[in-house]
Amino acid sequence: MGERPRFDEAPPADAIDFAPGQPSADLIPLNALRAASARYFEQAHALELNYGEKPGDFRFRRALAQFLERQSGHSTDPEGLFLSGGNSQGLNFVCQQFSQPGDVVLVEDPTFYLAFDVFRDHGLRVVPVALDGTGFNLDALEAAIKTHRPRMVYTIPSFQNPTGQTLSLEKREQLVALSREHDFLVVADEVYQLLWGHEPAPPSLGSMSGQGHVIALGSFSKIIAPGLRLGWLQTDPDRARRMSGAGFIRSGGNVNHLTSHWVRELLLDGQLDRNLPNLRTAYQRRNDALCAALAADCASSLSWSQPAGGYFVWAKLRHGSRARDLLPLARAAGTGFIAGDRCSPGHGFDSHLRLSFAHYEPDKLAAGVARLARVLDDPP
Ligand SMILES: Cc1ncc(COP(=O)(O)O)c(C=O)c1O
Repeated sequence: MGERPRFDEAPPADAIDFAPGQPSADLIPLNALRAASARYFEQAHALELNYGEKPGDFRFRRALAQFLERQSGHSTDPEGLFLSGGNSQGLNFVCQQFSQPGDVVLVEDPTFYLAFDVFRDHGLRVVPVALDGTGFNLDALEAAIKTHRPRMVYTIPSFQNPTGQTLSLEKREQLVALSREHDFLVVADEVYQLLWGHEPAPPSLGSMSGQGHVIALGSFSKIIAPGLRLGWLQTDPDRARRMSGAGFIRSGGNVNHLTSHWVRELLLDGQLDRNLPNLRTAYQRRNDALCAALAADCASSLSWSQPAGGYFVWAKLRHGSRARDLLPLARAAGTGFIAGDRCSPGHGFDSHLRLSFAHYEPDKLAAGVARLARVLDDPP
């Protein structure tokens, strides 16, 4: 053990902060990673540490395709998979490859607030579309498509960040059909797809990529560890081949080639498959604990509905205060959250809070809610 690790947005040691959407240390499989990297280096050929293949090492993509098949029951073509540095890098790459400054991207309102920075970097115009409990409100989406002629529609279809909503199968099919009809790209950020609680989400949009213009973004951040910076894009094989023409990939090969060798080991020996049920159980316990604590301590100040997976509870202040105004008080009380208006392009949802249950065990979550309750019971 060396120096105490630092990471951005780390909560102070004594805080119980509901803002970070990051796993706690006990959910990161350090021993499995240590063993996988040791096994890899025992047999590695030096040329495996050359630049590698542009879409990502074929053996990695084949092992990933088999893993996705085992998890989803859908056959997966490794030629439609393209390695990425996780979903943030994947989203940036898709914007770079498939959009021009000034293009419109339609987004769920609210959505993952850090995606706004990526869209801004590419000069995209972000247009919000309302949700209705099972993802996009389809009437609002169709109207926005006709009015704005988007280049892309960005969606987090399963256990959405921040609302926890899941796009129904019917809507997934309609969205894919609309992408063909109106010639836009569905960019599906599926970072929580495999983190369901009691039952799996509907089929991933990645598995439907042959039926329309779809690129799905998958990531190992939440199912192994964010620091791997490893994920994948899933699309039709022709589009995947075209992506290999990106300048930085032609010059330097794909990103995080070495990490992909380690993760291949975890995929091949079934470690990841075996660990996923433990992760789902751990997150479901945290999800239950946060919601039970909210019911016990915050029922008069907040309303929410329990998500069926993912990382987040989306709660609304009953007394209509602005969540942002409460944040300094919450911090002073040793807790925190993401104020809802950060998640909305038009800064709506200002009386909402995004609460992550990912970073703490149940007893800590309950203690954090008690701190939050004191702030909410006595708003300024
Ligand atoms: C919706 C969404 N997309 C992307 C990310 C970041 O993913 P990655 O670590 O793979 O870049 C997160 C992490 O919180 C997220 O919630």
